[in-house]
Amino acid sequence: MIEILHTDITTLQVDAIVNAANSSLLGGGGVDGAIHRAAGPELLKYNRTLGGCATGEAKLAPGFNLPAKWIIHTVGPVWYGGEKNESQLLYNCYRNALELAIANDLSSIAFPCISTGVYGYPNHLAAEIAIGIMQKYESNFKRIIVCCFSKEDVAIYTDRLNDGERRN
Ligand code: APR
Repeated sequence: MIEILHTDITTLQVDAIVNAANSSLLGGGGVDGAIHRAAGPELLKYNRTLGGCATGEAKLAPGFNLPAKWIIHTVGPVWYGGEKNESQLLYNCYRNALELAIANDLSSIAFPCISTGVYGYPNHLAAEIAIGIMQKYESNFKRIIVCCFSKEDVAIYTDRLNDGERRN
C-alpha cells in the first residue's frame, strides 16, 4: 500500500525512514538536519563509521532517538538540467533503499522527496520516478509512505499515484 502523507518524517513510527543525505553522511540542512536533530548525536557518531555514501547508493543506520527503528541514508543527485544521468541516479536511490529494506526484512518505509530541495530536482519529474518504482515494489511492503513537506508535493504525488493506478 502506497500512502502520501503531509508531515515531518521524523515523527513517523515506521521500520525505516529514508534520509536525503549528502555523500559525507555528516549531516546538513533540510530533512538531513531534521533527522540528525531528532535522532540525536549518536547518529553522527555512527555515520562516521560508514565511510560516506556515493550518489544513488543507500546505507543503513539505527534510528536512535527517532520513533523509526532504522534510517536508510541515500544521496540524491544534484539537478544539473537532466543531461547528467540525474534520473538514473534518483531511480537508484529509491531502488537501493527499497532493496536494503527488503534485505533487512523491513515492512514499512517512508521516503522524503529526495533531491527536490537543496539539490533542485524538479518535483514533478522526481515524482514520476518515485511513484513508478514504488508501484514496482509495493507488494514487498505493508506500507510505503511518501512523506511530503509541502502541500504542492502532496498534490503532485497524489496525482501521479492516481494516474499510475489508472494506467495499471
Ligand atoms: N520531513 C520530511 N521532509 C522534509 C523535512 C522533514 N522534516 N525537511 C525537509 N523536507 C523535504 C524538503 O522540503 C524537500 O521536499 O525533503 C525534501 C528534500 O529536500 P532536502 O532536505 O533539501 O534534500 P535534497 O534536495 O536531497 O538535498 C540534500 O541538502 O540538507 C542537505 O545534507 C543534505 O547536502 C544534502 C542536501
